[in-house]
Amino acid sequence: PPSDARAGEHGVPTVIAHRGASTYAPENTLPAVDKAAELGFSWVENDVQRTKDGQLVVLHDETLRRTTNAEEVFPGRAPWKVRDFTAAEIARLDAGSWFSPVYAGVRVPTLKEYMRRIEHNHQKLLLEIKNPELYPGIEQQTLKLLGNEGWLDGRHLGRLIVQSFSADSVRTVHELKPAIVTGYLGTPTAAQLHGLTRFTDLINPSYGSLSRGYVASVHALHGPHGRPLELLAWTVDDAATARKVAGYGVDGIISNKPDVVRAALGSD
Ligand code: G3P
Ligand code: CA
Repeated sequence: PPSDARAGEHGVPTVIAHRGASTYAPENTLPAVDKAAELGFSWVENDVQRTKDGQLVVLHDETLRRTTNAEEVFPGRAPWKVRDFTAAEIARLDAGSWFSPVYAGVRVPTLKEYMRRIEHNHQKLLLEIKNPELYPGIEQQTLKLLGNEGWLDGRHLGRLIVQSFSADSVRTVHELKPAIVTGYLGTPTAAQLHGLTRFTDLINPSYGSLSRGYVASVHALHGPHGRPLELLAWTVDDAATARKVAGYGVDGIISNKPDVVRAALGSD
């Protein structure tokens, strides 16, 4: 199979820890993936962007404001865009205190640090290329780093999905390394789906846009590897919604509260 992120033998969707176990530790940090591992989740999701000096870092927002103390450390550098700061500057920031004093001093991880930690934890990665239009060439750069870290070796490819809201970015990843499993974030129309099947293995929509019929229409198509398209729904954080979305037949659920979703699906 291209990926382990598929419904298991008993039809229970795979649960993926969104930005790590981000309800219990600061999102997109090493403690967040450690927390996911501790809770028993192998699949984690993250967001990758690029610094002013070309380093790949793991952070969700286009700016550093919400999840770090950048405003305090670098007053006068508004609007604190990730791409306007060097990796050394970002390494000085506290990415944990905004969440809880317990996590004071936690750093924004570089993608390399992040990959090494999830490798250590024996985890699997749903990697989102975030805001690719801001970072020309980020796909090639990301794949180069993944390759250097051994993640593009054949036996490891089942542990990796690369996704983006940008179809161009997903297509670029597929063209650079066709063996990688890719995902498109969104709820494409039937016409759009046909175009996406040339380079996308998964369709990953917001759960609110889903129906049983839509999921079936995705499953009826085949991706670039000749297998049926799969579907991961985001971001489901309560039991009732988890059960409803699982009933639509999705292959996976991306959640900030993966433990709640797992319990709701009876896979505990
Ligand atoms: O993986 C799905 C989800 O992460 C997409 O939305 O804004 O949380 O990156 P966002
Ligand atoms: Ca994301």
